[in-house]
Amino acid sequence: MIRVGVNGYGTIGKRVADAVAAQPDMELVGVAKTSPNYEAEAAVRRGYDLYAAVPDRADAFAAAGVDLAGGVADLVDASDVVVDCCPAGIGAENRELYEARDTPAVFQGGEDADVAEVSFNSRANFEDARDADYVRVVSCNTTGLSRLLAPLEERFGVEKARVTLVRRGGDPGETSRGPINDVVPDPVGIPSHHGPDVSTVLPDLTVDTAALKAPTTQMHTHSVNVTLEDAPDPEAVRELLAEESRVFVIPETAAIDGAGRLKDYALDAGRPRGDLWENCVWGESINVAGRDLYLFQNVHQEADVVPENVDAVRAMATDVDAAESTARTDETLGVGLESVFSDGRIDGEREPVPADD
Ligand SMILES: NC(=O)c1ccc[n+]([C@@H]2O[C@H](COP(=O)([O-])OP(=O)(O)OC[C@H]3O[C@@H](n4cnc5c(N)ncnc54)[C@H](OP(=O)(O)O)[C@@H]3O)[C@@H](O)[C@H]2O)c1
Repeated sequence: MIRVGVNGYGTIGKRVADAVAAQPDMELVGVAKTSPNYEAEAAVRRGYDLYAAVPDRADAFAAAGVDLAGGVADLVDASDVVVDCCPAGIGAENRELYEARDTPAVFQGGEDADVAEVSFNSRANFEDARDADYVRVVSCNTTGLSRLLAPLEERFGVEKARVTLVRRGGDPGETSRGPINDVVPDPVGIPSHHGPDVSTVLPDLTVDTAALKAPTTQMHTHSVNVTLEDAPDPEAVRELLAEESRVFVIPETAAIDGAGRLKDYALDAGRPRGDLWENCVWGESINVAGRDLYLFQNVHQEADVVPENVDAVRAMATDVDAAESTARTDETLGVGLESVFSDGRIDGEREPVPADD
């Protein structure tokens, strides 16, 4: 049993904590927060031990009538691996705490790559994290791009990828980022940092990215153009992507025209918090002209890195291989959306995911 502590119980941390708690080979030691807000209540309702992320804020929990199991140092001491889900930049500051207590840690994509020995994506470079002490799971956008490009590189070879990312302006709870009514090049300089970030897990690929921010909280949208080494037909690309458990090829029949309906689809499927752990690729958008592949995909920023965090812990703390870890994570969480429509099925080989796990 791998004892896992989650430091930071916000958008990513609460999802990672639930995912860890669902693993048969992991035990969730507890979660750390700075304040006794509604998310602390969610942790209490789930029976998770709460730790004070900032020691001198412990009194605020006592005043709110919330029991603490200790401070964040106690959480680190009790854990074999800590998953740091603190805001960007705080993770790097926390590394000293983990090192002082000789505890391996997983960091998130908001940190610079040099926070850890290895940047990680399950599909791209699982083995690189084997036995590493410090690993960074790459950001939601980089995770989405890596999952798409790794199988394309393996099957057809990638000469060059060019991606325009239309990024959500903020998460649904980030009221401080709005209201806004604009589309903003962000960063205005091209390329954006996403292409170089993909290179941290797929170093042999050439990926140019440009990014904008749009006034939505739902998902990121990627407009993808990949020049392949071999010219495939669109159906071969569609089949390749449909075989990937962490890619959902949206069938045309489903009439899902955007992120709103995608999220609605996830809620109808019984997904916790309406989470979409998979890249969502519009089947109709897959098009090939010569060696140029075009498609649109959406990435649910709050969710897609969650299975990757579970796999990162396994890569660091066990000898389980990528295929087995991915399968275990997918099965326990219910990753692998599959439509019942014939244009969304893979010849009946995969069973539909149960609605509520
Ligand atoms: N949200 C996304 O879309 C997304 C996607 C992929 C990756 N990431 C990355 O994941 C990491 C976490 O992001 P997030 O969106 O989950 O952040 P978040 O929602 O703001 O949650 C951060 C959590 O860290 C806690 N925390 C612990 N120590 C803290 C400290 N010293 N100062 C402030 N807060 C502290 C906060 O506690 P309190 O709430 O009690 O203050 C909160 O529970 C970042 O690196 C981010 O870039 C985010």
